[in-house]
Amino acid sequence: MDNKVTIFDTTLRDGEQAAGTSLNVQEKLEIAKQLEKLGVDVIEAGFPISSPGNFEAVQLIAKEIQASTICALSHANTEAVDRAWEAIKKAKRPLIHVFLSASDIHLLYQLKKSREEILELSRDMVARAKGHTDAVEFSPMDASRTEPAYLYRVLEAVIEAGATIVNIPDTVGYAIPQEFGDLIEGILNNVPNIDKAVVSVHCHNDLGLAVANSLEAIRRGARQVECTINGIGERAGNASLEEIVMALKTRSDLFGLTTDIDTTQIYKTSRLVSELTGFVVQPNKAIIGANAFRHESGIHQDGVIKEAITYEIMDPKSVGIPASSLVLGKVSGRHAFKERLAELGYVLDEEALNHAFRAFKELADKKREVKDRDIESLVAEELRTSSELYHLDHVEVSCGDHSIPTATVRLIAPDGQAVADAALGTGPVDAVCETINRIVRVPNELTEFTVNSVTEGIDAIGEVLIRIESDGVSYTGRGASTDIIVASAKAYMNALNRLLAARKASKTKE
Ligand code: KIV
Ligand code: ZN
Repeated sequence: MDNKVTIFDTTLRDGEQAAGTSLNVQEKLEIAKQLEKLGVDVIEAGFPISSPGNFEAVQLIAKEIQASTICALSHANTEAVDRAWEAIKKAKRPLIHVFLSASDIHLLYQLKKSREEILELSRDMVARAKGHTDAVEFSPMDASRTEPAYLYRVLEAVIEAGATIVNIPDTVGYAIPQEFGDLIEGILNNVPNIDKAVVSVHCHNDLGLAVANSLEAIRRGARQVECTINGIGERAGNASLEEIVMALKTRSDLFGLTTDIDTTQIYKTSRLVSELTGFVVQPNKAIIGANAFRHESGIHQDGVIKEAITYEIMDPKSVGIPASSLVLGKVSGRHAFKERLAELGYVLDEEALNHAFRAFKELADKKREVKDRDIESLVAEELRTSSELYHLDHVEVSCGDHSIPTATVRLIAPDGQAVADAALGTGPVDAVCETINRIVRVPNELTEFTVNSVTEGIDAIGEVLIRIESDGVSYTGRGASTDIIVASAKAYMNALNRLLAARKASKTKE
């Protein structure tokens, strides 16, 4: 059996299905390019039939990405299969992924079809996809709750019809590792033509077992694993790519398997996905959380200083967390700043570098030490504001326990004019948003507001995440500043700018 595990990334499809995500086409392309750099074998770029925006994103990714296979998801009906193909037909390596429920629970309550009808439809839709391209994947949805004997028959039929990959989803995250491993072994032993297809797995994290189930499946013979960056996805999410890849690498003594992932790109990919989706990575998240390589206890610190292997099973550099060679501060110059950026994997053009350096100097005046996470936050802020329609020029608030919160805001409008206004609010952030609304005048509802500190300490940068909804679509905005009111204003402007950009793009197409 092959000792390479194919990494199938579904951040842009299942990950994007997570509640509250709304990536625009350019952001999806940016993530896809980073996934290609990371070395994923397959990028599931989206679900083309689901919306015109989704179709457009898949089509663009299929055109731009060269090294990874580009996959499009499809319902089991002819229109969806044809639409999936239309979106990826220009890809260097296209893959159509057809799915259809297989469990009796889904058949009885949702599809109201018999097992025989489902088997026939699965076979026919794989054959239809095969008419378009050679690489076809089939997923019997809710496979972990499907009677194995019936599942074997479905798999045999779709392989017969041309499926080159059969993916076994634990759709509702119900499986337990031993049981899921047995299912994979059962498939390998009981589906007569299984040697003509790769067995893949796709595990959800409802019981916190997505990675454990995926690894057990790999140990028992699966050779493709579907996963997402930071484990994002429907409900509790999908198996996390970084955890699976690093488990295979760190315990190669046990698995004896490889992947083509450039693990030094993991951290950067994780930050990008977090930044663009607005999903903050929990500090204790394995591999990429802020605390993943931090040792607090004296005994642990003592051990690591003497020899890292005492308490560190992975080198942080192996996942792309750079070891800080220098600490930046007030007296650091442009050259040191640029070098640090390069170590962190950022290459900015001259203008962006000048802006970011100015912001760094302002921060260094307020903070004794500027850490890597501060720099990442500054760069993210720079990248966010470089293409905005309305620009936040000035914000001022007055508030306190005996005063009515009041905000004054000045924005630079798309025509270059400065526009100022003032408003009252229930609190300073509300007053700022009210004022901005008086200027920009786009109806929307604020649905989420979160503040996080980038590093510890009273002088830390605060990162604010805001989600707004307009016409049923959600837009995420982020802003960073040592002043959380300013960070909130920036985050609100970022969300509004994304809303305006989406409207402009859809008007251009009409
Ligand atoms: O969880 C699931 O079953 C899916 C399928 C479409 C593979 O996402
Ligand atoms: Zn899924």
